[in-house]
Amino acid sequence: MTTDPTTKRRILTGDTPTGRLHLGHFVGSLENRIRLQDEYDCYFLLANMHAFTTRADKPDEIRQDTIEIVKDWLAAGIDPERATIVLQTEVPAIAELTWFFAMLVPFNRIMRNPTLKTEIESKGLGDTYSFGFPMYAVGQCADILAFRPDLVPVGVDQVAHIEVCREIARRFNQVYCRVDTHADDKDHEKLGGVFPIPEALVGRVGRLVGTDGKEKMSKSLNNAIFLSDTPKQVKKKINAIYPGQSRNPDEPGDPEINPVFDYADIFIKDESFVADLRERYRKGDNLGDGHVKAFVIEAVNELLEPMRERRAAFDKAGGDDVVIDIIRMGTQRANAVAEETLALAKERMGLGFGSRREMLGI
Ligand code: TRP
Repeated sequence: MTTDPTTKRRILTGDTPTGRLHLGHFVGSLENRIRLQDEYDCYFLLANMHAFTTRADKPDEIRQDTIEIVKDWLAAGIDPERATIVLQTEVPAIAELTWFFAMLVPFNRIMRNPTLKTEIESKGLGDTYSFGFPMYAVGQCADILAFRPDLVPVGVDQVAHIEVCREIARRFNQVYCRVDTHADDKDHEKLGGVFPIPEALVGRVGRLVGTDGKEKMSKSLNNAIFLSDTPKQVKKKINAIYPGQSRNPDEPGDPEINPVFDYADIFIKDESFVADLRERYRKGDNLGDGHVKAFVIEAVNELLEPMRERRAAFDKAGGDDVVIDIIRMGTQRANAVAEETLALAKERMGLGFGSRREMLGI
């Protein structure tokens, strides 16, 4: 490690293990995490408890998805020497803080959360979702605040959750640490609050359209390009995108209704090259849809190639066993921070009766 992590500001973010990560995850949040690994003391959480809120009957799947997500992270460039990978279910402070925080937020405030509402609809949970399902929204605040981070890199769909987290942090500081209700967010810690008021950092692409050209890229909609896809799969998926119109290479087209141009903007690095493609497409200057796709395929494969190499090297080195070691090492590091947070919080709540060690008798 180059700098003492304790002097760096902290980042916490995480993913629910629901399957492999795709390009939407990458541009929505993952690339920010990779970029900020040196500058911040980073904690990346495997939110496996959250996976149980909708799939409690599928423990084997959840275990495998948890391991797969770590592989995706490592392949994408997260470095376990610099960043800390954390397994949620082995951080007891998170579960305890969830209870305390649940008492600082009105039930109806949680149920009004638009992200939860959308999830209930899109996952077809109807009105039979578990009690634990909406509880995860409070749990997420504990995930974050256990690490007292300044920044939470997330996709846009998570911003509503971060807002609840900020409200709970303010409320805790006001109720238990005598921080004035009019205090500025950035002054909370200076004024004695246990928690900073963390900020969401949204990725450069809020919503990446899927290969169906309509919906947001998502595993469950079958319109995703996965970070682990082979060059052939990438080619096949991009070639199958409907360009929004039917035209010949010498006929004028509208790039604005062609989802392939969204991908061109996002994945082709040379902006003037893309501007030129657009112009030629508009004019019908001998530019077929197949050509545009070929450039996009090349750019996406260029992004994914180093990930493929890292994944292969890593599979050779031991695969799942290596992942489990990394999880163990990271979670140990994470518990040091989370236990410190919990002790501080309990102290302020008048619950400082003895240390964890004393109470466990170890
Ligand atoms: N709910 C997030 C998602 O589905 C995952 C998550 C869990 C998370 N805990 C978090 C994200 C804490 C940021 C911070 O993507």
